[in-house]
Amino acid sequence: MGFHPSESLLKLSIALLCIMQAKGQVSFVGLPDTVTLLQSSARGTVVYTFTMENCNSTNPTVTMDASPTTNFFNTPSLTIAGLDYNIEITLSSTVALNADVVNQYILTITATCDNETVFNQLFVMIKNDIVEPQCEPKFSSQAGDTVTVYSNIPASSPIYKVVLRQPNNAPVTYSIIQPSPSVFAISTSGSVLSPTSGFTNAAKTYQLQIKVTDSLGNSCNGTLTVEVLPVYQNPINFTVPSTAVTIRENAGPGAFVTTITAQGNNVQYEMISPNSAYYINADTGIIRTTFNLDLERIPSLASTTLQVRAYDKNLRSSSAIATVNITVLDVNDMAPLCTPAVIVNQVPQTTPIGNILATLTCTDPDVNSTALSYSVISNANSLYSFRMQSNNLVVNNTLNYDSAEIASVNFQYSATIVVTDSGTPQLTTNIPVFITVTPVNNYSPQCIGPLTYSVNENAPFGTVVGQLNATDADYKFNNVEFTIEGGQNPPVFYMDPKSGEIHVLGPLDFETRSSYSLRIQVVDLNNDIMPDPVNQKSTYCTITINVQDYNDNPPVCNPPYYSTTIYSTLVTTSNILSLQCTDVDPTSTLTYSIVGGNVDNLFLMNGNSIRHNPFSYNPDGVYNPVSFTLLVKVTDSTSSPQFSTTAIVNIDVVPWTTTQPTTTTTTTTPEKKTKIVNETSTYWQPDIWFMVVLTITAALLLLALSLLAWKLATGNPICGNTATEATQPLLQNKSVANVENPLDAAKEQPPPPSKDKKDIAPVSPLSLQFDGRAQDPVTGREYLFNSHTGERRWL
Ligand SMILES: *[C@@H]1O[C@H](CO)[C@@H](O)[C@H](O)[C@H]1NC(C)=O
Ligand SMILES: *[C@@H]1O[C@H](CO)[C@@H](O)[C@H](O)[C@H]1NC(C)=O
Ligand SMILES: *[C@@H]1O[C@H](CO)[C@@H](O)[C@H](O)[C@H]1NC(C)=O
Ligand SMILES: *[C@@H]1O[C@H](CO)[C@@H](O)[C@H](O)[C@H]1NC(C)=O
Ligand SMILES: *[C@@H]1O[C@H](CO)[C@@H](O)[C@H](O)[C@H]1NC(C)=O
Ligand SMILES: *[C@@H]1O[C@H](CO)[C@@H](O)[C@H](O)[C@H]1NC(C)=O
Ligand SMILES: *[C@@H]1O[C@H](CO)[C@@H](O)[C@H](O)[C@H]1NC(C)=O
Ligand SMILES: *[C@@H]1O[C@H](CO)[C@@H](O)[C@H](O)[C@H]1NC(C)=O
Ligand SMILES: *[C@@H]1O[C@H](CO)[C@@H](O)[C@H](O)[C@H]1NC(C)=O
Repeated sequence: MGFHPSESLLKLSIALLCIMQAKGQVSFVGLPDTVTLLQSSARGTVVYTFTMENCNSTNPTVTMDASPTTNFFNTPSLTIAGLDYNIEITLSSTVALNADVVNQYILTITATCDNETVFNQLFVMIKNDIVEPQCEPKFSSQAGDTVTVYSNIPASSPIYKVVLRQPNNAPVTYSIIQPSPSVFAISTSGSVLSPTSGFTNAAKTYQLQIKVTDSLGNSCNGTLTVEVLPVYQNPINFTVPSTAVTIRENAGPGAFVTTITAQGNNVQYEMISPNSAYYINADTGIIRTTFNLDLERIPSLASTTLQVRAYDKNLRSSSAIATVNITVLDVNDMAPLCTPAVIVNQVPQTTPIGNILATLTCTDPDVNSTALSYSVISNANSLYSFRMQSNNLVVNNTLNYDSAEIASVNFQYSATIVVTDSGTPQLTTNIPVFITVTPVNNYSPQCIGPLTYSVNENAPFGTVVGQLNATDADYKFNNVEFTIEGGQNPPVFYMDPKSGEIHVLGPLDFETRSSYSLRIQVVDLNNDIMPDPVNQKSTYCTITINVQDYNDNPPVCNPPYYSTTIYSTLVTTSNILSLQCTDVDPTSTLTYSIVGGNVDNLFLMNGNSIRHNPFSYNPDGVYNPVSFTLLVKVTDSTSSPQFSTTAIVNIDVVPWTTTQPTTTTTTTTPEKKTKIVNETSTYWQPDIWFMVVLTITAALLLLALSLLAWKLATGNPICGNTATEATQPLLQNKSVANVENPLDAAKEQPPPPSKDKKDIAPVSPLSLQFDGRAQDPVTGREYLFNSHTGERRWL
């Protein structure tokens, strides 16, 4: 501990400075400081002493920390020294300073005085002051060091080396001082050598005391115990120190696992840290199972490492250890368990591809069969319809409701899902699948036709005109309903809603309407799971019904009455006049024939025109009449049904003039509202006025003939008028009705048989001014008429 006046002065001035401050603070006087300590310093040696000032406490505390940590120093002690405390640091009883290990300790001393804490450091330098050799502690300890060797170690082999420290580097010598002499030798370098004659092969222990001395006479000594172990001739040894075996689970208790074999004498086997699942036969080394290994019950059995020891029965210390790794393989003894066990579902036929129909939840209780694969086996109906997407059954192809094939199986697709586990052997579970499709109306009906029909205009009520066919691809196929939407007012056709058959409903008249264009609505029926008018699909098609003409109209001549005057010199190739007759039935072809009044066959028809044969007005010879009333029958057909009408043509011939122009003058008399005879080939009904004319004409003829005869006989002039009386019986003919044909009856009272026409007498050629009196059947007015000219005078 060096004392420097300047240092003390500094400390003093610091202390004074502190005192001069308002309050005296607790402080260490003498710290920090550095001290040097000899390595050989014994316990209790005072390392350092210093003072704590300004501590007015009666029980201050002091602690110390050493770096590096050591227990070589005692806790600082406190002693009162007047108003201050003295603090002393000493070496502990365990002190063993070694400058080669630690040559400086830093001690940090902390004191607490009431509320105040003060600390400071002391640096302790260790100085080596040892000079004699030092033997290695364990060797030099009471028990000494131990070495074990096999008896077969070669002779004079080094078995131990004495380790020491020689601080002064003086040369040392080694000697075995106990026993002396010894079978062991020690080399100059401190190696203990095995006996030159070797060891006998038996266990033996030697104890040697070895002393090391240096040239200065310093020494250390120690003890060495040599344990000699005998060497076995045939040691227990496993040819294979580690084996791995694989067995299957569920092989039952006592199942063979493996056999281990060790070489050596009297070998016995045992399991180290026994495993309850296996046991080993001590004599044979066969390892078996103690119980049935079920991985599902005890999964941890999957892998086990056994340690097996083989040993010499007579010399237990001779042993060897082998490891046996046992892997228990899972045996697939459980098929996958799935829910649901059967899939029954009902989906619309329009369910999109990829839609999930059902999800399976499957598990496999077998430890190593948890990887499950799913596949679907279709039947003929459901081929390609489904696929498995993991554990989901999804639609693979469009499901169909609209086929006879699926209808034949009640619209039910069936298939089987096969769930296969990954065990050995693989086990499967089958899940039956029944997917029923429900209908969706996804097709519109289509009109097939035909779209054009024809019907005779006289077709009676109920006549089938034809059948409109329509299809609908939705099952039940072609289940459609027909309605006539429009095209006829009033309705003349009726359509069977189910069959599409078109029937005649009302009377048809080609002449009124020859073609009907009907808009037909075709609506499909029952194409949805429930009748659903909203989803009903319909289509429209337009059909045309052509009404075929049927001869149901008589020809009509307009005017019906003709009158003309010609000169007899008119050439025969000229037409006297042409009849204006038509028939509304377009199929009708009118034929004209003169059926009455054709005296001397002087007139003939050329189509609808009247021509004549040469007249003869020879006053001395043949003198033809000069006035004719021709009845021309106009017929519209040559076959039944046949209608005809009769036109009346009055022709006056001017006989003598040969220089007159050959043109004819045709005068029509439209004011004569004569009625037309509608005549069929079977029945004829003359009009009243005609009957009147006919009767009067006939009466006049008879009268004229009788007057002529009377005049010829008597020469009296011709006079008198009896025509009115003559009309009466003819008028009565109107009441002679023939109702054989109701159709004709509806039109007109049937006429008497046509043979009556033969009774129409030729008109008398006599020229009488107004030789008849008659009544217009329409207006009821009476008139006089000229039977030759047809001229009338109203009364
Ligand atoms: C301790 O007592 C002395 C004398 O009585 C006084 O001067 C000093 O300030 C006191 N110290 C403390 C820390 O109170
Ligand atoms: C510690 O100091 C505080 C004020 O600084 C004081 O109140 C207290 O009493 C003191 N404690 C002791 C044990 O002296
Ligand atoms: C061996 O060393 C110890 C001290 O370490 C000493 O007391 C003893 O005498 C020594 N023995 C001999 C034989 O020198
Ligand atoms: C045991 O056997 C192995 C090989 O068979 C051999 O390498 C080893 O040296 C033997 N151990 C003993 C102690 O004989
Ligand atoms: C047996 O198992 C251990 C540890 O699991 C391993 O180190 C050793 O290589 C295995 N032995 C054989 C033969 O597989
Ligand atoms: C059996 O399963 C376990 C874990 O589940 C796995 O480690 C092992 O490799 C599997 N063994 C076989 C053979 O698949
Ligand atoms: C799914 O459909 C495709 C073609 O549409 C077909 O090739 C495939 O085989 C089907 N899958 C199954 C599982 O039927
Ligand atoms: C219309 O349907 C009927 C009955 O199904 C069938 O006999 C007829 O041939 C069909 N006509 C057409 C044009 O398809
Ligand atoms: C003759 O037939 C036409 C057309 O069918 C008809 O209008 C007319 O009334 C008929 N006349 C008689 C007298 O029956």
